[in-house]
Amino acid sequence: MKLFAGRSNPELAKRLAKELSVPLGELDIFQFPDGDTGIDVREEILHEEVFFLQTLSKPVNDHLMEILLFADAMKRGGAASITGVIPWLAYSRKEKRDHRRDPISAKLISDLLEMAGLQRLITLDLHSIAIEGFFNVPVANCSAAELFSQKIKELGRESVVAVAPDMGGAKRARQLAALIDAPVVILEKYRPPNDPDTEVLTIIGDVADKAAIIVDDIVSTGGTLINAIEVLKKKGARTVDICVSHAVLAGDAAEKLSRSGLDTIFVTDSFPVPSSKQIAQMEIISIAKLLAREIKSFL
Ligand code: R5P
Repeated sequence: MKLFAGRSNPELAKRLAKELSVPLGELDIFQFPDGDTGIDVREEILHEEVFFLQTLSKPVNDHLMEILLFADAMKRGGAASITGVIPWLAYSRKEKRDHRRDPISAKLISDLLEMAGLQRLITLDLHSIAIEGFFNVPVANCSAAELFSQKIKELGRESVVAVAPDMGGAKRARQLAALIDAPVVILEKYRPPNDPDTEVLTIIGDVADKAAIIVDDIVSTGGTLINAIEVLKKKGARTVDICVSHAVLAGDAAEKLSRSGLDTIFVTDSFPVPSSKQIAQMEIISIAKLLAREIKSFL
């Protein structure tokens, strides 16, 4: 097998290569003067099982283009199989139409990846599991729940509740709740169409004097988490810890979270988190082992 990586998450690429005990494939990715992306795969891939790690972080469209070009190159170069290891699948939060003239971005991305030559996808905590069905190739949707549950147990909190910060996250919260043996609390979040601001309308369940563990797939602006923390504290939660798979942390989200009253925030390294955004309450958990296990199962 051969493991290659795009430019999005070099640290995770190194960790994954180490877990798999393989060198990272030699690959040069560059920009032509006109802005086009170019790739130069510098080793033989004929009849090889090829894996390409790329998280779709900023600049999202450039990173997407890298994987499309890579898949096309592998297809034309005669690779035995092409697997995309894409922990965060950008555009996945737009998996349905809210209005008649809306795109379904997640479906378009799945079509593009397949058209380019991707034959399998390994990802992490898809925003919605329905997105698996947008692909006609096998999708392994890994979960960070097990990793998070170990960390939560280590915190040693008493009277723990697993909190979904919105209705869409109920299943995710239930999965963590089962692992840490806790009841589930669900917040009803409202976000006006195309508006980054959210508000919590209703809270289902009791958090008074409880240790609340919010679980979410992604933190972007931080608005969802900050509103949830405020409501949980107001309703009497003793502590608020957070588990988030994808730490996008756009703009000043990290700084705002550091002042939000949260106790601990566990995130994975699916996203590269620059040191300026690694707040004191944050612990980054690596998914390298998880991805390596999944890759090995394909071989
Ligand atoms: C929403 O459905 C997601 O699960 C996240 O809760 C949301 O995307 C987080 O975004 P933000 O941090 O901007 O509130």
